Amino acid sequence: MTRLNGKSALITGAARGIGRGFAEKYLEEGATVAIADINIEAAEATAAQLGEGAYAVPLDVTDQLSIDAALAQVVAKTCKIDIVLNNAALFDAAETVDITRESYERLYAVNVAGTLFTMQAAARQMIAQGHGGKIINMASQAGRRGESLVLVYCSTKAAVISMTQSAGLNLIKYGINVNAIAPGVVDGAHWEHVDSLFAKLEGKELGQKKAEVEAGVPAGRFAVPADLTGMAVFLASAEADYIVSQTYNVDGGQWMS
Ligand SMILES: NC(=O)c1ccc[n+]([C@@H]2O[C@H](COP(=O)([O-])OP(=O)(O)OC[C@H]3O[C@@H](n4cnc5c(N)ncnc54)[C@H](O)[C@@H]3O)[C@@H](O)[C@H]2O)c1
Repeated sequence: MTRLNGKSALITGAARGIGRGFAEKYLEEGATVAIADINIEAAEATAAQLGEGAYAVPLDVTDQLSIDAALAQVVAKTCKIDIVLNNAALFDAAETVDITRESYERLYAVNVAGTLFTMQAAARQMIAQGHGGKIINMASQAGRRGESLVLVYCSTKAAVISMTQSAGLNLIKYGINVNAIAPGVVDGAHWEHVDSLFAKLEGKELGQKKAEVEAGVPAGRFAVPADLTGMAVFLASAEADYIVSQTYNVDGGQWMS
């Protein structure tokens, strides 16, 4: 199918994991995709593997100059930007009494400020172009409620859900739809990191936390990135023109809201 034919998309954190899965699907649907990542070598390798229509863009979402340069690079290459998917994020876990300011500031810089200011730069460009656009933010089931060892990450994802609501209400007058996706647990390098953190914090064997979490998923398994791509294409397409400020759970039944 080619539901995104001729569209110019930028996906943050697309060098690997879910973002890479989104890029692959957007390309299949006819878009050109900027693989925007702080790890430029990995972004270049991913773009080369994904083939025609994919290109790497260096981006650190914690740095305003980098955000502006990445958007400018997309516009220089494709003359416009139609879709921005804010996917880059960091995870950490700790006992509440052990949370450090460094961890708090690092996660907020990427997950909250990075999402806000990339969304803002995208919106400014889309407003200047005058024909709307789609902004999709990556939330999480972690943003729906707290978790004992995950205070900082959960709160950043709650912030993403809230920012999606406010920005969506503010930007729809320009024909810009802002919506979000809240995955449950998605297999990949990110989860290896989560599992190893929980192994230390809860005294578990490596892989044990992951197996326990998987057993609790109503759908019976971890997601793979391809489980999320349908929602990411839909929200980026004209079929979603009347959808404003929503966060959709794509989580195998883990959360209902
Ligand atoms: N994997 C899961 O179980 C899960 C569940 C719910 C939500 N999510 C969310 O989905 C999104 C993607 O998750 P993932 O599992 O693919 O993560 P991942 O860690 O595999 O990939 C994240 C990517 O972001 C890049 N990145 C990190 N800091 C950056 C920065 N400052 N600027 C630009 N890029 C940066 C990394 O280099 C990496 O390529 C995240 O927003 C995450 O919070 C993931």
